[in-house]
Amino acid sequence: MSDGFSLSDALSTSNNPTPSAPPPQGWPSWGNQPPVPGGFPAYPGPPGTYPGSPAAPGTYPGAPGAYPGAPGPYPGAPGPYPGGPAGQGPYPGAPGAFPGAPAGPGPYPAPGQPPSGPGFGLPSPQGGPAPPMKVPFELSLQAGLVPRMLITITGTVNPNPNRFSLDFKKGNDIAFHFNPRFKEDNRKVIVCNSMFQNNWGKEDRTAPRFPFEAGKPFKLQILCEMDHFKVAVDDAHLLQYSFREKKLNEITKLCIAGDITLTSVMPTMI
Ligand code: GAL
Repeated sequence: MSDGFSLSDALSTSNNPTPSAPPPQGWPSWGNQPPVPGGFPAYPGPPGTYPGSPAAPGTYPGAPGAYPGAPGPYPGAPGPYPGGPAGQGPYPGAPGAFPGAPAGPGPYPAPGQPPSGPGFGLPSPQGGPAPPMKVPFELSLQAGLVPRMLITITGTVNPNPNRFSLDFKKGNDIAFHFNPRFKEDNRKVIVCNSMFQNNWGKEDRTAPRFPFEAGKPFKLQILCEMDHFKVAVDDAHLLQYSFREKKLNEITKLCIAGDITLTSVMPTMI
């Protein structure tokens, strides 16, 4: 995180939070790297409460609404960016539903809404179960990524899985490929990488554990920070990946593919 913090430092050392280093306040499980300038917002929720859970409008100083730098709400979005203060109520039934009063504009997708709004897979306005989400799935991030953007993905690993992947894309380039492989030479491994001009870079295989299991539900969170992504699974920090592509605002797509069933995909600002 300092100026002297190199990619190789990040790759070789960053996946294991130092146990003795206290996590930032309210962030029990994201590891030891200091986050965006100003630090994590002081979040008064109970232990285990999600960062970004919109429990109390105004809780997140500096992030009360549409995401910073964005020209306005997402086109097609019925209201401000989730995480904003103008919510209509909780997202009941969303796995690990955020306690308190979520601030977003309501469940998605709206009937007939194409997959370009801010969040998907949440219960219908009528309160019925969310329809299954198609995989591969693509989420447009119209204004691109920005530090403090948190994307929460819930789903279930299919039976007998081979692999799945998240790709944060800048055009055809892949800024961040997160790829759990369940049976590579009979082993489980998480491969992270980037692809520029159709060429894959050096694979990062340093994830300290493999938290996914065939047939089991998961919650996967990707937090965009100043110079890296942080990844947490089921509320526990897993790894971080230093940016190889630094033009965050041009990373405008998240593609999710492979052997999972998707339940929800929700970007928020923290
Ligand atoms: C390749 C694989 C790609 C991607 C890449 C990551 O072998 O075909 O899908 O996972 O590795 O380095």
